[in-house]
Amino acid sequence: MTYKMNVPRATTKPQLYEELAVQASAMLEGEKDPVANAANLASLIWHLLPDLNWAGFYFMKDGALIVGPFQGKPACVRIALGKGVCGTAAARRETVIVPDVHQFDGHIFCDSASNSEIVVPLLDGNTLHGVLDLDSPKLARFDEADRAGLELIAQIWVKSL
Ligand code: SME
Repeated sequence: MTYKMNVPRATTKPQLYEELAVQASAMLEGEKDPVANAANLASLIWHLLPDLNWAGFYFMKDGALIVGPFQGKPACVRIALGKGVCGTAAARRETVIVPDVHQFDGHIFCDSASNSEIVVPLLDGNTLHGVLDLDSPKLARFDEADRAGLELIAQIWVKSL
């Protein structure tokens, strides 16, 4: 891989996600290894998106979510389906946006700096591979533009397999 990360020029959130998607597709092109691609994607997200304190993957294994490649502080390793924000998004198979994690019943704290969170399921048709999880120290950091942008990024990873 001879991919080089570019500093984004976007001035709006949708533009930033467009640039992220273009860079993600270029970076994953020709590589099918799921862990390698998740590791590089976590790094790209971490460097391109502002106001994050954790960005990474949990993979479905034997019916639970197991932490995968990420950037940020060490995280809890296993999350049962239905537990925390990650397990909720996985069980519902839909993106969950939490504006204030302190108000989310059952939120699992990995880093006390986290105030808001978005979790996007990694879905390939009916197959759930895991989730993409982003945490922010800012309250209400994530909105519909993040949902659209990160669902596209999740699909870029799924299609790389
Ligand atoms: N907060 C998540 C746990 C994972 S960490 O944020 C990395 C949750 O409630 O599922």
